[in-house]
Amino acid sequence: MRMLGIETSCDETSAAVVEETGDAAKPWAIRSNVIASQVPIHREWGGVVPELASRQHIRDICGVVARALAEAETRWHDLGAIAVTQGPGLVGSLLVGVSFAKAAAAASGLPLVAVHHLAGHIESLVLHNGELPLPSVILVVSGGHTSLYLVERRGSYQTLSRTRDDAAGEAYDKVAKLLGLGYPGGPAIDRLAKSGNDRAIALPTTRLTHADRNAPELKGDLDFSFSGLKTAVARHVQGREGVSTQDIADIAASFQRVVVTALIDRLFVAARRYQAASVGIAGGVSANSRLRAELMDRSERRELPAFLPSLSLSTDNAAMIAAAGLRAFRAGVTAPMDLNADAALPLG
Ligand code: KG4
Ligand code: ZN
Repeated sequence: MRMLGIETSCDETSAAVVEETGDAAKPWAIRSNVIASQVPIHREWGGVVPELASRQHIRDICGVVARALAEAETRWHDLGAIAVTQGPGLVGSLLVGVSFAKAAAAASGLPLVAVHHLAGHIESLVLHNGELPLPSVILVVSGGHTSLYLVERRGSYQTLSRTRDDAAGEAYDKVAKLLGLGYPGGPAIDRLAKSGNDRAIALPTTRLTHADRNAPELKGDLDFSFSGLKTAVARHVQGREGVSTQDIADIAASFQRVVVTALIDRLFVAARRYQAASVGIAGGVSANSRLRAELMDRSERRELPAFLPSLSLSTDNAAMIAAAGLRAFRAGVTAPMDLNADAALPLG
């Protein structure tokens, strides 16, 4: 069976066709994965402007879907269902994908499947590597989220922790803006950090020991917090006269060391606590070179298998949504035609 996937939660318009392989260990193959990035539009404003994003999705969606079908040599009647990101994300952006998918499902008679954006990111690990050994602890780290999930059964996710304030990608974007590096900040800091001294400046690491008042069921010590770190970088930059290129590289490297250490440490503490058979990192920040290297290094030392998506599957794309849609569809899940976008959709 082939699934059409549609993703419009933030600033990429994406459509993909993913097909079942019949191989239980590596269940899906990508036939096409078309991504129209809006980065050049938002760069001018230093971040994603929701109103501009939704308008651009409207311009791009028909062409992106047509190209995804053409590249996959797939006609509408070759498809088994249509999967779409229902949330979380920017509501105006989500609505474009959801409306398109509902209209396409109504016109073609195909079933509709609603997908959680983060379930999509988690599925990018399976798309690239095949099924993960379970139980698995997965870190989803993107522009909007930084959370740990326990996967005990395929397709079911238990939240172990989350960020109390900024997401890691958001911290990258804000610090890059402070340093005058433009949008998106993650790739720019990652590049510059390579020529910087990661011990040049002392930046604080936040360790949380108490439960979150808003989520008392979680113990809290696996939670993340990045807003203090961002403020410390701002103070450091403001307290200086001129900032040289080398200073900027040093700040980027020092910032990146603190973020990556916080992410990897919590992931492996959780892995031990829940006796994980594997760990994985997904989401836009999983493209980070230091995070990838430290994950593999720690995984070897702990003799615990670790998984990453390919670079092109790390950031937002519709192939991961189609894959998560296939998993849900095979579990008997479809969406009604009055499906609505949900900007704050919970996972699990
Ligand atoms: O998953 P994603 O494409 O969109 C969301 O769902 O948020 O993630 C985008 C985030 C941005 O904050 C971007 O700066 C960050 O991922 N990112 C990176 C890198 N590439 C993208 N952060 C650190 N290092 C990178 N190489
Ligand atoms: Zn994402």
